[in-house]
Amino acid sequence: MLPLHVTPESEFIFGDIRKTLKQPRFTGFFDLVIADPPFGLKFDKSSHEYGAEDYILYDDEFKGTEYEEFTHQWASVVYESLKDNGSFYLVSGWTRLREILNAVARIPFHLINHVIWAYSWGVYAKRKYVTSHYHILFLVKDKKNYTFKPQYVNPNTKRKGNPYERDVWFWPEYNRGNDPHRIKGHPCQLPIVLLEKMIKISTNEGDWIGDAFSGSAGCALAALNLNRNVASFEINPEYKNVMEKKLALGDHSTE
Ligand SMILES: C[S@@+](CC[C@H](N)C(=O)[O-])C[C@H]1O[C@@H](n2cnc3c(N)ncnc32)[C@H](O)[C@@H]1O
Repeated sequence: MLPLHVTPESEFIFGDIRKTLKQPRFTGFFDLVIADPPFGLKFDKSSHEYGAEDYILYDDEFKGTEYEEFTHQWASVVYESLKDNGSFYLVSGWTRLREILNAVARIPFHLINHVIWAYSWGVYAKRKYVTSHYHILFLVKDKKNYTFKPQYVNPNTKRKGNPYERDVWFWPEYNRGNDPHRIKGHPCQLPIVLLEKMIKISTNEGDWIGDAFSGSAGCALAALNLNRNVASFEINPEYKNVMEKKLALGDHSTE
């Protein structure tokens, strides 16, 4: 075990992930990193989605090639922070997906799957299709050596251990805006059920998870629910309060 002192309640590390995750103590350290990076879009404070005064908004605008470069910089640091058999999930909307794919293609990751997370919510649009999906890239360092434990339960037989996991995920009742663990203070929280799925499939109890771009620390809650250790990386210390409140929800595992 590396000399990292993280209590079971997890550690929050504030600052730009390109520096904080680069600390030598994290080199080759994590079994899994889950990243939900800034979308690279300018948030409209007056919009229905992000305008609620209960949210602390963050500056998310990148111009020209900045987003691909930013992605390449932080994802390279993620690569170095993973164990040789480590895995990496990268959540992205479709609008900056091209830059994300270009950036990770410049790092020696193996892209194992391109998962679609479909959800039953979207910003109302009259003259275009309502966006109701995210992309989740599943990447590994060594395509011959990584943890993958299917959790799928056949609804007809209730039998565990079916060897197949599909690359389209859908929970009709959960999305970013609607999750029993959603708390006030952060505008774009991932549902815990989604994070737990990645963690159950790609790690074992006692493993170390890097919660990159932590936001409200949903990934940390999911990790602790499942007996995994976690270090959360977030640039904005204003979210500390939000993170603490989310972790105080305690064990609300969706299992
Ligand atoms: C899409 S949100 C993540 C939300 C999170 N998955 C949740 O469930 O609450 C992206 C987060 O990345 C943070 N962030 C932006 N740039 C960052 C950087 N360079 N280093 C670390 N965190 C950053 C933002 O403050 C924001 O909280």
